Amino acid sequence: MKTIFWGFLLAGGAIFLHNCTWTTNEAQAQAVSQPESTADLVKRGEYLITTMGCNDCHTPKVMTDHGPDLDRSRLMSGHPADVPLAPIADKEAVRKGDWVLMHPMVTAFVGPWGTSYAANLTPDATGIGSWNFEQFKKAVTEGKYKGLDGGRMLLPPMPWFNLTKMTDADLKAMFAYLQALPPVKNVVPAPAPPTEI
Ligand code: HEC
Repeated sequence: MKTIFWGFLLAGGAIFLHNCTWTTNEAQAQAVSQPESTADLVKRGEYLITTMGCNDCHTPKVMTDHGPDLDRSRLMSGHPADVPLAPIADKEAVRKGDWVLMHPMVTAFVGPWGTSYAANLTPDATGIGSWNFEQFKKAVTEGKYKGLDGGRMLLPPMPWFNLTKMTDADLKAMFAYLQALPPVKNVVPAPAPPTEI
């Protein structure tokens, strides 16, 4: 009886160990092979850009019967050049930092830093078509305009400080997705200082 008991215990242990090894091997295989292809990379980039809310500011909106939605014909193309900002009634309150205003499409912003416009991140020449990965990484993780060492710091409300610790793998996926988007020709207006509010 005792022998049968030990026999079962050993067999159970062996199966348990076998399953553990199998799971570990599978996890390792997935980690090594991921992402497998450009299509996978782009898909993962889309997932990251979408869930991290980059469209909130970088994509113009259209009004639908359930409220504002992304204008999917020009994803990530920034504040449209042909949409002017309305005059501001109390400029002093904005300059003093008592209020921050934003365009209803959430693509342009006015505050004590002046006026800023969400950038065109599509692969057009007016967007980030000529950027390399290192530029994208520097812009997103160090807040440098155009990802250049000597570039000015990006203006609010670009939340680059949340992204300082992003891994190269995630950044590469995001960059691959942006480069795979339809290019949109849109020269986003240059930011203006507080005196020009
Ligand atoms: C709350 C609004 C907002 C969100 C959310 C946002 N951005 Fe921005 N982003 C901006 C604004 C505004 C600018 C332009 C800043 C400037 O001109 O200095 C900008 C600029 C950039 C630039 C620099 C473009 C250039 O020409 O140098 C990159 C790259 C960028 N954003 C990527 C992203 C990514 C990736 C995400 C999502 C993780 C994101 N942004 C989310 C508002 C936002």
